[in-house]
Amino acid sequence: MKPVFVLLVSTAWTFTGAQYYYQGLMDYLENRLLAIEDRMLLWHDQSHRYHTELLDFKKLTAEAVDGLKNQHSVMFKDLEGAAVRADRVEREMDSVEAQTSPRACAGMADKVVEQGAWRLKESRGEDESEEEEGDDWEELHSRVSDCVEIISGIRSVKILKRVGAPKGMWTRDPRSSEVYIFNGTSGDDLHQFNSVRDFSRSPGVTGSRLIRLPSDWRGPGGAVYDGYLYYIQRGEADADVQVVKYDLLTGSVAEVAMIPVESRAAVYDLNPETVADLAADDEGLWLLYAPADGEPNIHLAKMDRASLDIEQIWDTRCPREKAEAAFVVCGTVYVVYNTRLASRSRIQCLFDVNDAVVSEEAPLIYFPRRYGAHASLKYNPEEKQLYAWDDGYQIIYRLTMKTKLLV
Ligand SMILES: *[C@@H]1O[C@H](CO)[C@@H](O)[C@H](O)[C@H]1NC(C)=O
Repeated sequence: MKPVFVLLVSTAWTFTGAQYYYQGLMDYLENRLLAIEDRMLLWHDQSHRYHTELLDFKKLTAEAVDGLKNQHSVMFKDLEGAAVRADRVEREMDSVEAQTSPRACAGMADKVVEQGAWRLKESRGEDESEEEEGDDWEELHSRVSDCVEIISGIRSVKILKRVGAPKGMWTRDPRSSEVYIFNGTSGDDLHQFNSVRDFSRSPGVTGSRLIRLPSDWRGPGGAVYDGYLYYIQRGEADADVQVVKYDLLTGSVAEVAMIPVESRAAVYDLNPETVADLAADDEGLWLLYAPADGEPNIHLAKMDRASLDIEQIWDTRCPREKAEAAFVVCGTVYVVYNTRLASRSRIQCLFDVNDAVVSEEAPLIYFPRRYGAHASLKYNPEEKQLYAWDDGYQIIYRLTMKTKLLV
């Protein structure tokens, strides 16, 4: 009986002990769970707060981005406005330039028609502003006998065609309608056309009369006057430069004259092929040359057209450096300058043999924006226009004149 009791008591005791043990465990677990629940609640709160903060932040950044976008578009508009203003300024500058330079007739430059497709403006109907007078420019003659004029501007430009060589010269006899083409920088031949019209209508130089000379012409420096061709010839010896007067009718040399050149120096810095440059008009034959290598200025000689005697010599005080061409109008030399990288040719120096033109009254004249640089510029006093050779193109510039102030 006694062992049973002991067992019972011990079992009860064990039971009670286990009960206490489990109760403690439960309490502990419950506490832990509560703590975890608390923590989770806290986490939840925190994440909620973070979420809200994130939302706020998102809203803020969205606003900021919107603001930036607005600022950007404002800035963009400002830029557009600035561009428009810059454009306007540019146009104003262009128009100002056009008033003082040949840009006013630069529209004509768009009418580049090559190789005979170009046709003279015979149709009076064409409402070209520069053709307002309705005159066929080939008939435009004016008196230069009293010769009291200086160039005031370039009125129009006409591109006739492109013969070929980048350098060369072409000119018209002021006493006839005949046109002469010197393709290249030297040779013993030239092409003669009966008129500018014939030249512009024919493809290349077909339809021309080929003239062969007894010697080579050197450089685009020739001149034609009253049926005579005057050209520069250079002998074997360095300093042996001559002017040859050639009768185009009979095909014979009428006169040869040495010119006072002591070097291989060319007259224009930018066109070294132009040994010396001739111009012919009513008053005589003009020779532009560089007397020596070290001579920085262009010199001018007035020659007798018949005998080729030199009558007078001047130092024009116009520098050879950066000069590309020159021509003579009414006893005044106009020297045209450019840059080595061809930009805009401009008349920037002049010299009047009668001292009647003061530099102040002569405007700085720019040539219209063109292809390159002039290889030659030949003035025709009857028509008051320049026959130019520009990168293979044959171009005519019509000039406007004004009367010299001091005569
Ligand atoms: C002019 O000369 C250039 C090269 O020197 C040549 O290509 C061209 O055919 C010549 N033009 C004419 C019409 O002779």
